[in-house]
Amino acid sequence: MDTKVYEGFKSDEVTDEMLSEAATLFSENYGIWGQQAAKRMGQFARAGCPVRLSKEKLRKDYLPDKISTYVRVTVNGRLAGNAFACRWSVGGRTICWITQLVVHHEYRERGLAAGLLDEIKLDGDDAYGIMSSHPAACLAASRAYKRPIDTASLEFMRDNAQSIMQVSPVGYVREAKLRGKLFESENSKGLVSSVDTGFFVDHDEPLEALAWVRESMDWPLGELLDGHEFVLILQAKRRSRSRSTSSRRNATS
Ligand SMILES: CC(C)(COP(=O)(O)OP(=O)(O)OC[C@H]1O[C@@H](n2cnc3c(N)ncnc32)[C@H](O)[C@@H]1OP(=O)(O)O)[C@@H](O)C(=O)NCCC(=O)NCCS
Repeated sequence: MDTKVYEGFKSDEVTDEMLSEAATLFSENYGIWGQQAAKRMGQFARAGCPVRLSKEKLRKDYLPDKISTYVRVTVNGRLAGNAFACRWSVGGRTICWITQLVVHHEYRERGLAAGLLDEIKLDGDDAYGIMSSHPAACLAASRAYKRPIDTASLEFMRDNAQSIMQVSPVGYVREAKLRGKLFESENSKGLVSSVDTGFFVDHDEPLEALAWVRESMDWPLGELLDGHEFVLILQAKRRSRSRSTSSRRNATS
């Protein structure tokens, strides 16, 4: 039987060695640049070549301050997946945003992404956000945060996405342009809850996953366009005060 170990670290506990491993995992498993990438983003993004990240960029962009978190899962001692998250406050609410999530090709579709996102969860979180072109990343969030995606509150996203994202300490979240029926009065491209990030990663794999997901559910986030990603923001489920008080009482009696 496989031995699966999840571990979580605050940003100042993350060593260069851990980031080197994370950079390798990302560069070998995240995805490849799409056809338009070189033209739209620069010659470094050659179509068909892997999207790469260095450990320095991971430290600078994904662990921007002390409120960032890194979680990883090893299977039989080998790094099989990891996630980065960042927290900030908006109007008294704590937002936890998943800034990166990647699972090694050999270990996909076994619940590791959902497990990583569950590991990130803290009691004080009020909402979770993720931007991703991969429907499985959104499904993993909905599983980890116990909000079925087909019943996710689109109204909550419509009313709060802008105010949450515009004060993010993470540049690419702050700069992402909200797109789709939820945020724009006119949108004819079938987008519902999307962001234009200008990130031209190849969409073959996410589109294949989307077609598969749509066979079994009414996918609520709409179409996926090149240079765009889905955006999903879920309210945290809180135990009611009376229930947590009574369970504390039971524990001490
Ligand atoms: C997205 C990714 C992290 C998912 O990892 P994973 O460990 O395979 O995901 P899980 O096994 O936890 O599955 C989560 C959900 O997605 C579904 N899913 C996973 N892969 C899928 C696929 N290829 N097609 C359709 N559904 C898929 C699972 O069935 C599960 O759904 P459920 O909760 O309704 O049962 C992984 O595919 C990956 O690393 N992709 C490349 C990088 C990327 O796109 N990352 C997201 C950017 S933030």
